[in-house]
Amino acid sequence: MRTHILATLAMAMIGSAGCVGGLTDAGPMTGSGSDTNPDATPRQQFDRTVAPLLVSERCAGCHVGPETGATNMFLGTANSNDSFYAGITNDRAINGNFNPAAAALLAKGQHEGPKWSVAEAATISDWLDAESAGRDTGSGTPTQPNPTNPALSVTGAEEQWAACLSVSQTEFTTTKAYAIADMQTENGRCYSCHEPGGAGGAYWGRNNQYLDMLSKWQTEVFITGAFQAQTVSTGGTVSYTMAVASNKICSKGKEQDNSAGTHPKFDCNQNVDGVVVLDAMASFTTMVQAKADSGACPTPAFRDPTAGSGSGSGAN
Ligand code: HEC
Ligand code: HEC
Repeated sequence: MRTHILATLAMAMIGSAGCVGGLTDAGPMTGSGSDTNPDATPRQQFDRTVAPLLVSERCAGCHVGPETGATNMFLGTANSNDSFYAGITNDRAINGNFNPAAAALLAKGQHEGPKWSVAEAATISDWLDAESAGRDTGSGTPTQPNPTNPALSVTGAEEQWAACLSVSQTEFTTTKAYAIADMQTENGRCYSCHEPGGAGGAYWGRNNQYLDMLSKWQTEVFITGAFQAQTVSTGGTVSYTMAVASNKICSKGKEQDNSAGTHPKFDCNQNVDGVVVLDAMASFTTMVQAKADSGACPTPAFRDPTAGSGSGSGAN
């Protein structure tokens, strides 16, 4: 189903091979033939094909440890398959919402660590596809956007929201919805990890006067880091509106207390930059919804993640 993406990825890797010493030894094509997949679950596939690629000094040597600094410990805190699996599946930026084309795990390439061979990339891509098939990543057939009323499906509501966000810079700036990037945790402010090159998904960053963050919120992968679809039922018809993903954000801050993960602790009801952050995001959401309701937004569409940030004059 995603063969074309894989082909593109392979081409990109071949295309960039010249500058960093070429592809590494390709090795056997483990797990990339769909006809002979012996694994009953995506987790089994991960354990058999992907985890062995991550071990010891290859990736784990630098990406296993506590989440206390800017290097993304996306393999968790222990050298075990459980830790690797939980770390990768919890980190939206790393797994690209289980879309190989958007996964930093595949896109990173040569850095202080090595890059993947074509065969290894195919193995990881296959596994992400298997995970995606077993999860609700927000873009399945039952939620296909309805062209006349986008609010009738989750994906449609998200696309409409993305389009409305693209014309809501002024509201973003005046409500200070951006202040979430500046919230404090026991291990530093959100931006210290959630900016490019740092750890973490969701994208809470300061770059370009916070407008890069607003741009990220418009992409398919990150929109559900900040917002979530809510069901509205009117006269037997179900439709969807978008709300701040406060439960998810707040539970991230309590993960350690609930023994649900290792994310740095924080209080989600913080006052920074002169606002209570979740209130500021709620005010912003109300204004964006008013635009959606009045038909003042462009055609519903996610933002192309490779496009530049901002859409004109910038914040003031
Ligand atoms: C020698 C240490 C080292 C090794 C080994 C290593 N990395 Fe990294 N990695 C880093 C550092 C340091 C950064 C942060 C700076 C940067 O982005 O280049 C990083 C960043 C990353 C990022 C970006 C994280 C983000 O959220 O932006 C990804 C993805 C990544 N590495 C993947 C890998 C993979 C996959 C492997 C194994 C094939 C690997 N790394 C091996 C040191 C390493
Ligand atoms: C010390 C580094 C660090 C700091 C500081 C930090 N985070 Fe994170 N955050 C991460 C990492 C790594 C992940 C991905 C793995 C995970 O979920 O634990 C993450 C994931 C998240 C997620 C889930 C992302 C998604 O898209 O599903 C949310 C929400 C989040 N962080 C919110 C925050 C907020 C809000 C702050 C500031 C109050 C903050 N984080 C500060 C490292 C950090």
